[in-house]
Amino acid sequence: MKVFDLPTPSLVADERILTENIRLMSGILSGSPARLRPHYKSHRCSALAHVQMRSGAVGMTCAKLSEAEDLIFSGIGDVLIANQIVDPVKLVRVAQLAGMCRLTVCVDDAGNAGALSAAAAAAGSTVECLVEYDIGMNRCGARTPEEYLSVARAVAGLPGLRYRGIQAYAGHVSHTVSAAEREKMTRENEKKVADLKEYLGKNGISVETVSGGSTGTCALKASGGVYTELQAGSYLFMDSTYDRLGLPFRNSLFVLATVISRSGGAVILDVGVKGLGADQDGPRIVTADGRAVPGRIELNEEHLKLFDSGWEPAIGERAFVIPGHCCSTVNLYDRIYLFAEDTVTDRLDVTARGMSR
Ligand SMILES: Cc1ncc(COP(=O)(O)O)c(C=O)c1O
Repeated sequence: MKVFDLPTPSLVADERILTENIRLMSGILSGSPARLRPHYKSHRCSALAHVQMRSGAVGMTCAKLSEAEDLIFSGIGDVLIANQIVDPVKLVRVAQLAGMCRLTVCVDDAGNAGALSAAAAAAGSTVECLVEYDIGMNRCGARTPEEYLSVARAVAGLPGLRYRGIQAYAGHVSHTVSAAEREKMTRENEKKVADLKEYLGKNGISVETVSGGSTGTCALKASGGVYTELQAGSYLFMDSTYDRLGLPFRNSLFVLATVISRSGGAVILDVGVKGLGADQDGPRIVTADGRAVPGRIELNEEHLKLFDSGWEPAIGERAFVIPGHCCSTVNLYDRIYLFAEDTVTDRLDVTARGMSR
């Protein structure tokens, strides 16, 4: 079947660009002590997780317990939930899952570590822990080395838990457009983590793993020598927000859409915020024959309105829309169609779609 015969809007991915993005990431990490632990949130598609594992990933990262369950029940044996799990019912599930695979969760509170330990002890399993350190994102994580040490000591001393190391994610740096500024911020963050590691060593806590990093910082962190695991996710698909950084990865993910009206001289496509993640930069349009279309875009619920583009498509013409944010866009679709040239080559289920608990 031809990709342009798919009903629209459809989420499609260029198989060859996607494969090339995977190859580029392997190249970036070759010779680095850091290994890839890609973030599942970007594709939520267990088949692609297995592709990443076959391409050298040491395991998968995810944000939610339900995503972890999807990965584990698809056969992935090493999963990091890069988040705090505190709900007592969820703690029981974490402890049970840890009996089936290597499962790591993030902790930043000694009380939470105690509850996790009790659940693990009851299940007879061992939950691996990364204690999270806030390196400037102002999200979760211990804020000072002293606070970090007290949580790490709690984890290290509790039955059913194993202290693995540091989670330190700098999401506030990922989309910094200036390469020089991104590098400066990354090196400052690495210093904070290296200083913490040294401080922990002096206090009897040895750090085996330092995990974090994103598509925007992976090349820097790969050469920095501090991180042992990189959690990049968007590199597989890319999006218009990441495009501004000039990274080597190319757009492989598009929403295929149809021109449904030329009302008022605008070009109106049949996809709006119900089919395009709208939490970052706006989307961009590429014609069916691959030309980038300029112009001002407005998104409604079901429509994309393009003004002042100079593009004169016929009604019914197809177009590719590059999402502003690949991760939130994928979560709006049940499946991704892979294509090569103009032919559909596969259909992948977004197995963890909506798994945000
Ligand atoms: C904990 C964590 N690790 C890694 C990432 C990296 O994602 P990306 O490469 O898609 O920017 C994110 C993004 O939100 C994240 O929250």
